[in-house]
Order: sequence, then C-alpha cells, then structure tokens
Amino acid sequence: MRINDIVRIGPVVPVLQFDSVEQGESVAQALLDGGVRVLEVTLRTPAAMAVIERVARLSDQMVVGVGTLTRPEQFAMAVSAGARFGVSPGFTSALGEAAQAAGLPLLPGVATPSEILAAQAAGYDIVKFFPAEPAGGVPMLKALHGPFADLRFCPTGGITAESAPSYLALPNVVCVGGSWLTPKAVVDRRDWVAITRLAQAAAALRPAQHSA
Ligand code: 3PG
Repeated sequence: MRINDIVRIGPVVPVLQFDSVEQGESVAQALLDGGVRVLEVTLRTPAAMAVIERVARLSDQMVVGVGTLTRPEQFAMAVSAGARFGVSPGFTSALGEAAQAAGLPLLPGVATPSEILAAQAAGYDIVKFFPAEPAGGVPMLKALHGPFADLRFCPTGGITAESAPSYLALPNVVCVGGSWLTPKAVVDRRDWVAITRLAQAAAALRPAQHSA
C-alpha cells in the first residue's frame, strides 16, 4: 500500500502514545469499533514497538503506522514490528533513504516552503504539515496551495474535533492527524466506549478533496 492509498483510508489518523501493550490493544480495538481503520503509534514510549507488533495483528481491517521517526535505525525495526507506513516530524535525506531501504512508505513532515521543496525533490507529493496550528494552520495551507498546487497535506499538531472540518474542507488536505480521539483522562479511566464515540464522529467527517 502506498502513502497515497493510506491517507485516503479515513479522514482522521489518530496519533497515539501508549504506556503498555494492553492499553494499546484496547484503544486500537475501540477505534476500530468506531470505524477508524488507520492509526499512527508514536515512538515516544518504551512500549511503542511492542504495541505496533500487537496492534498490527489485531485485525486485517487495521493499517498501523509508526510515528515520530527521527532516526534512520528506527525504520527496519518498525517494519519488523508490522508498521505499514511511517511518519516523521520533519524530513532529511537520511530519513528518506532509510524509508526506502526498509520499504516503508513515508509521510514526511514539513512546515515551510523550503522544506516542501526538499521533500518534493526527494519524490514526495504527500506530506505531513507539522505542527499545523503553530505553523499557520488553515491560512498557511491556503497560502501554500498557490505555489504548490499539486501537493497534498495531512496536517497534524493542535487540531481538534472542532477545527478538523475546516482543514478537511481545503482542496489540498487529504486527511488530518491528531490525538483528540484519545484524551489521556479517558484512556486512563479505560472508557473505551467514549473512545469509540470519538472515533465514530471522526470517521464520519468527509474531506472535500475526496469528492473532487
Ligand atoms: C504529534 O505528533 O504530537 C501530533 O501532531 C499530534 O498532535 P496533537 O496532540 O496536537 O493532536
């Protein structure tokens, strides 16, 4: 599966961080029950790789990605664990080469026109816009559409249930990422029904881009 297909699986890619494999499995199941079939497990906790391994085997319906890729040596490990795509907060040629060597489709992060040019030069036409809100949000993406009309974005960072629709209405946005589907307090009290409800609301959003 290529990045182009992965970003079209659903309008919202949950960005997740887990303390344990059990927590990861329960949250992933709750998201799947709510119709979310793609998710990103960030490498921000010691449990992350083990979570990817477990969640990748949870269901044929689920596509699990690995996030917060910042070092080339993480790529092969993530692929062995079962990650089907990778997300990095920024982009360097070393990360691009590692992704290629590992055979992992990569969604590289950009925040400026020069970073976009570097990612495009390396062959990417879909990128993560990060951190979306601090880096200019919807107005910035509108401004970038002029010079980079063919580029597609998955904005992530500071997006909420309330702001997601305004991002998804943009012609250059294919999906959005965010952690709002899994508030820490809700995960801590193991309220999987609440997570499923948040997932259902997110899965029901429609990017304007998809109907174009
Ligand atoms: C991240 O990498 O932290 C993501 O952008 C999630 O950001 P959020 O927690 O602001 O949604």
